[in-house]
Order: sequence, then structure tokens, then C-alpha cells
Amino acid sequence: MHVIFNEKKMDVHTLFSKEQIQTRIQTIAKEINQSLGSKDPLVIVIVLNGAFIFAADLVRYLEMPTEIETIRLKSYEGTSSTGHIQMMTPLSGNVEGKNVLVIEDIVETGRTIHFLLNELNSKKAKSVKICTLLNKPDAHESPTHLDYIGFDIGKNFVIGYGLDLDGMYRNWPYIAELMPSK
Ligand code: IMP
Ligand code: MG
Repeated sequence: MHVIFNEKKMDVHTLFSKEQIQTRIQTIAKEINQSLGSKDPLVIVIVLNGAFIFAADLVRYLEMPTEIETIRLKSYEGTSSTGHIQMMTPLSGNVEGKNVLVIEDIVETGRTIHFLLNELNSKKAKSVKICTLLNKPDAHESPTHLDYIGFDIGKNFVIGYGLDLDGMYRNWPYIAELMPSK
């Protein structure tokens, strides 16, 4: 398989199949239901654009009463982080005094998560838990606590299932890894 990026063909290979992702999501949902319980209301903050597919699948297994909010952040150009985070669309809704669960597609340097924690603390959320489908532990720049993780992966760029390469390929039902050019 290959994708086109900057007019170059790049090899990709499947890292997680559709079935592997769906099975893992059911397990994460069980973990969240067990630890947060089925009674206390929860505000879910979906980090757009990347987390929209993961969040849509995950929230359907959650048992507590939920409100769904979004925030749109951007830090990437092509396959590398620009190092600064732009808030394209601010947080929808009010989190003051509420328990929040952030749903993210992938954690790399951890900057986005730290940005979100600041944002949610400044809006006086009562508690904040983080759930990410993918985590690149070797790329964290500072200690970043994650409460629920789908899969730990290496440092290669990945696409599909919400994750994009310059806006493309988010619709793939599986996750593929871009092979570094030889
Ligand atoms: P961080 O702020 O460096 O942790 O980066 C997090 C954001 O960068 C994610 O929310 C993604 O939008 C993007 N990102 C990081 N790694 C990848 C990747 O391998 N594929 C696609 N997007 C990525
Ligand atoms: Mg993201």
C-alpha cells in the first residue's frame, strides 16, 4: 500500500486492523465504566479533528449520563509538529465544577495534553481524565499522565481512523504506519 505526500509515493503498512481497534475500544470502555461508574454525569471533550471517529465509537459504550463537547486544536503540518498549538475553535459548553473526560486520537510530545489541562483548569473543571487511542511514549517531552490508553506505539507517523496526513486519509477504518523513506 502507498500514499502520496508532497508528490512522493510513501509506503504504508497496517498497524491495527478494524477488528483490533474495535475490540480494544470495548475493553477501554469497560475500564472507564468500571472506574467512573454509571451514575455520575461526565462531560466528554472530543479533540477535533483527529478524535472524531474514535470518540464516536467509544462513547456509545459508556454507561454514565454524558454531555458531549468539542475543542478544535491544530499543531501539525504534514508529518511533523509545528511545536505550537493553535486553538482553531474554543471549547464548546461549560465545564465549571464538572467531571471531564478528554478524548484524544494520539499523544506524541504531550504538548496538546498540557495545553488542554491548562485550558480545562482555567475553566474550573472539577476533575479531568485523559483517554487517548494511541500513545507514543518515546516521544513525550515531559511527564504526561494518561488515564486510558488504546495502544502504545513507536515514533513513526500513523494515519487512518481519524488521523490525517495533511488532512487526508481520516476515513480509513484501520490505522496504518508510514514507513520512513529509505
Ligand atoms: P502532541 O501535542 O505532540 O502530543 O501531538 C498531538 C497531536 O499531533 C495529535 O492530536 C495529532 O493531531 C498530531 N499527531 C501526532 N502524531 C501523529 C501521527 O502519527 N499521525 C497523525 N497525527 C499525529
Ligand atoms: Mg489530535
